Formats: sequence, structure tokens, C-alpha cells
Amino acid sequence: MTSSAFRTPGRATGLVSLVGAGPGDPDLLTRRAVRRLQEADVVLYDALVNPDVLDLTGSAQRIFVGKRAGRPQVQQDFINRLLVRAARRGRNVVRLKGGDPFVFGRGGEEALALVAAGIPFEVVPGVSSAIAAPELAGIPVTHRGISAAFVVVSGHAAEAYSPVLSTLAPQSATVVVMMGLASSASIAELLIERGWLPSTPAAIVSGAATTNARVWTGTVADLADGAGESAGEAPATIVIGEVVSMGAILGAELAAPGERARSTSEALGTAAAR
Ligand SMILES: C[S@@+](CC[C@H](N)C(=O)[O-])C[C@H]1O[C@@H](n2cnc3c(N)ncnc32)[C@H](O)[C@@H]1O
Repeated sequence: MTSSAFRTPGRATGLVSLVGAGPGDPDLLTRRAVRRLQEADVVLYDALVNPDVLDLTGSAQRIFVGKRAGRPQVQQDFINRLLVRAARRGRNVVRLKGGDPFVFGRGGEEALALVAAGIPFEVVPGVSSAIAAPELAGIPVTHRGISAAFVVVSGHAAEAYSPVLSTLAPQSATVVVMMGLASSASIAELLIERGWLPSTPAAIVSGAATTNARVWTGTVADLADGAGESAGEAPATIVIGEVVSMGAILGAELAAPGERARSTSEALGTAAAR
């Protein structure tokens, strides 16, 4: 069957936008992401997408394709087929993913499926929690004189993180681990075996940019002792490296988004009154 067999006569193929929803707070969406959501006919979204972000979609059909506790995961092939079918029906489709679509988000796989099917698509970058989660806790992933590099690994399997972390010179970079709570003790043990100081500062930032945001700080030795396993349900990003110490100074001083908005409008008001 040719691709044209799926098309509604007279309707051009729709555009598929692979859109990053950022770490949670809708204020962290890009303007393009907001526009695509408002213009969408269909939105396929993941579990980590904040419901307030979905509320920007207007009358679009919303289809949940994420992981839900106790239910089998929706197969990637099925999602790819949904994207292709909706676009061939002339719909503008948003594939909405937490953070950035190309950071541990399978956005690349979906893009390849769209290319294979001849569907026009675009990528709308999002704010990745790899950087935003530490940042919102006052932890810069690089800082002159402290850390000149950062590496981001997935903790979902040893095959994913071990080759990278085993070759990293001790204390040479900030290590950011996503999907890593269950493996945090193994990761910490690996780093200590490879010569990292057990006293290296570590943080677990969970629910960043949501109302459930929490920050735990300790050391790599604490992680090796299992501190990460009791970090709770919210999605969490682990940060390891000397930069974590800066969170104690900057995190405490960071204005909450509401306070920032108030002080900005006060400043603007003062400027306008001048
Ligand atoms: C499947 S990965 C998706 C990453 C996403 N594409 C990104 O760029 O942020 C999911 C992981 O992202 C991290 N994550 C997502 N949202 C987060 C948040 N609000 N706070 C902290 N970490 C978060 C966690 O490590 C979680 O296990």
C-alpha cells in the first residue's frame, strides 16, 4: 500500500513537531513550543509532561503514550505509526516530551521513522532537566576554576554508563545522571573504585520546576551507601562533582519564580514612574 492510500483526499500531509516541554513549569517552554501546542490538531504526550503544559493545547486531541504504573509501556513502533497516520490525515501533530526531545527522549528514533515515511517534521528544542534540574538548585554544571566539563549519562543500565564513567579521570568533570536513582549506589561505587574521592559532593534534584521540587545533598560515599534509593517517586537528576557545593550558596539565594516576577514588575514600575 502506498503512503497516499492513507491520505484524506484534498488534505496535505500535516507537520509533525517533536517538541520539548522542558522540566515541568510551563514558563520554561519556548515560544515556538507554545505556538505549536496552540496550533496542534493532535498531541501525543509522555508521562513526565506537566498537565499545565497540556492545558495550552486548546481543542487538540490528546493521546497519552507514556509509561503508566502497572500498565505495559506503549511500544515505540506503535507511537511511530500513530505519528505517521495522523500526519497523513492532514493533522498537525505535536509529539510532546519532557525536557528536550533529543536527550534520552527517543526523539531521534521518531524523527527517523518520519523521514522513512516521507512525513515533514521539525524539532523544537526544550530545556533539558540535565542542566535545568541542577541549575534550579543553584548548581552550575560548569564553573570556571571548579569544573570545565560535564558529562550526562543514563543510569538505566550499567552498559549505558559504565564505559563512560570508567574512562573519566577522577574529579575531572561534573557527572549528571538521569534515570539513575535505582543505580545510584552502583554508580557511586564505580566512581570510588576508579579513584574519585568518597567525599566528592553529590546532589539529587527531584521534581525540578514543579511544586514537588526537592534537593538532597551529600557525598558520593552517601550515594554508595544507598541514599539515592530512598529519594522518592518524582523524576530525579543526580549531580556529582565539586560544583554541587555551590548549591549551598546559590540555591539558598535563588528567588522563587513568583518572587522574581514580582520584583521584575516592581523594577519595571519604578522605571516607568521615573
Ligand atoms: C526519559 S528521561 C527524559 C529526559 C528529558 N528528555 C530531558 O531532556 O530532560 C527522564 C529523566 O529525566 C530526568 N528528569 C525529568 N524531569 C525532571 C525533573 N523535573 N526534575 C529532575 N529530573 C528530571 C530524570 O532523571 C528522569 O529519570
